Amino acid sequence: KQQISVAIDGPAAAGKSTVAKILAEYYSYIYIDTGAMYRALTYAVLTKQVDIENESEVAEVLSTVEIDLIPAEQGQIVLMNEENVTDVIRMSKVTNNVSIVARHALVREEMVKRQRELATSGGVVMDGRDIGTHVLPQAELKVFLRASVDERAKRRHDENLSKGYLSDFEQLKLEIANRDKLDSEREIAPLRKANDAIEIDTTSLSIEDVVEKIKQLIEERL
Ligand code: C5P
Repeated sequence: KQQISVAIDGPAAAGKSTVAKILAEYYSYIYIDTGAMYRALTYAVLTKQVDIENESEVAEVLSTVEIDLIPAEQGQIVLMNEENVTDVIRMSKVTNNVSIVARHALVREEMVKRQRELATSGGVVMDGRDIGTHVLPQAELKVFLRASVDERAKRRHDENLSKGYLSDFEQLKLEIANRDKLDSEREIAPLRKANDAIEIDTTSLSIEDVVEKIKQLIEERL
């Protein structure tokens, strides 16, 4: 069977990575979480006390940072220069700074280069903000996931509580809306649905529903 590239984009906490992981596993495709790459860089920048607004300093950090996405039973392990940063990159300190780091042209240029290299071998499911529009414009399937801010904040809130993390629903709502605004309004490769992407509103859908819909779309393209 032919192997295809699947691009999954959408706003923060729309369920992209959950769905992408399941699909990649099902089809034995590689899964590339591009958000994790921007998060790993943000973590590196924050630990080095570099000014996140300073493009050349942030790009300089990226040139010293190797990011590895290792498939694992529970999705994936993220390594930053061999350090396991899988959990720390989800902390709010990173989440609330990542969009500033991801805004820099030099950062995006290098990240896109690395992402394309990772996608060269066989079937791939890649999730992010600019996959359908910039990273993999030739992807056979492009999906754009949407959900209301309330629904997305609720999902993230429940996820936090189930992991035993402290969580404030109203705060999450503000953070998600703010991140979407920064990601949509940035100059380079903003969060945007590609013209040929298929939009799925997941507000009232379960994870299984979304997975089934995308599987159908994949099957049509194999
Ligand atoms: O997907 P996730 O929420 O982990 O992404 C974290 C952040 O990384 C996004 O809010 C965005 O600023 C940045 N990002 C990006 N382009 C991508 C993926 C993520 O700018 N392709």
